[in-house]
Amino acid sequence: MKNLIDKLEKQHCLQKDEYASLIRNCDPGLSEYLFEKSRNIRHEIYGHDIYIRGLIEFTNYCKNDCLYCGIRRSNKNAQRYRLTKEEILSCCENGYSLGFRTFVLQGGEDPFFTDDRICEIVEEIKKKYPDCAVTLSIGEKSRESYQRYFDSGADRYLLRHETADPVHYSRLHPPELTLEKRMRCLYDLRDIGYQVGCGFMVGSPFQTEENLAEDMIFIQQFRPDMVGIGPFIPQKDTPFGEMESGTAGLTLFMLGLIRLALPCVLLPSTTALGTIDPRGREKGILAGANVVMPNLSPVSVRKKYLLYDNKICTGDEAAECRNCMQTRMRSIGYDVTVCRGDRKNF
Ligand code: 5AD
Ligand code: FES
Repeated sequence: MKNLIDKLEKQHCLQKDEYASLIRNCDPGLSEYLFEKSRNIRHEIYGHDIYIRGLIEFTNYCKNDCLYCGIRRSNKNAQRYRLTKEEILSCCENGYSLGFRTFVLQGGEDPFFTDDRICEIVEEIKKKYPDCAVTLSIGEKSRESYQRYFDSGADRYLLRHETADPVHYSRLHPPELTLEKRMRCLYDLRDIGYQVGCGFMVGSPFQTEENLAEDMIFIQQFRPDMVGIGPFIPQKDTPFGEMESGTAGLTLFMLGLIRLALPCVLLPSTTALGTIDPRGREKGILAGANVVMPNLSPVSVRKKYLLYDNKICTGDEAAECRNCMQTRMRSIGYDVTVCRGDRKNF
């Protein structure tokens, strides 16, 4: 197995069956071998810098019904909220003073936020903070809508592909959502000029090692600027509420593989990883991740943006995720930087 990791390190690509056998053989020994290489390559490109993004979860209304997600429209127990434009701008003001130079506007697919409203919000943020990047993460839209947001100043877009296997995709989503549409969106975004992020959950229901290998093949072929991955975690009010979580071990292993396949990729160590393991975000960095996305949403709504159970950073003591993150990163020898944190090329 180590020879496959050596090969990935040298060539930055493998065949599907090679990825699948690595994933099948993921154990602590092989992981350590991988992480030493993925960490090294990350140090060559990004040093010990950690890029931070201020995450603003501005609406948990969603017209979709993804089977895994706690804010799916059928979840009658979700307490719905929307932030006003003023509330979003005040999150940015707070974030700017805390050293954030990227704001990620994330939300469900909420028809209240028309293109006009999104564009107005993006324009105001970019006008007030011209040195900041704005990332949108608001789901599937038409190419025209994506173009309008881009023309308003949005720089980046996150849209996880969730799984690169169409049959697996159909088991995680209602029939009106297809992998084909998802991919169309990702290619539109790329074409328009966004820095694009895709990604998937590790250990989602029905996922096989071959599915994960397919995710790697898609990533090495699409070459996204960012890849967001985290363990699947059940949310009790969803059809998958009794399913098992993904593991931290396999999530970390996938982070390492992604770093070797795409040395320059912007790779977050996610909140979901921090939720299944109290030191998960630190371990993600040590496996090759270089981005963290502390929560900037008002504390009053944080308990409502619950994609999965037991999400961290939702209590009152979490008002300052920024400082918490700084301490955590310093504890493992890394430094949070005040900059947009764009992708490097090499
Ligand atoms: N567990 C882990 N991640 C989830 N997401 C949605 N629901 C869950 C869950 N139950 C992820 C999806 C989505 C992102 C915003 O959050 O991958 O794209
Ligand atoms: Fe949110 Fe630590 S990062 S409380």
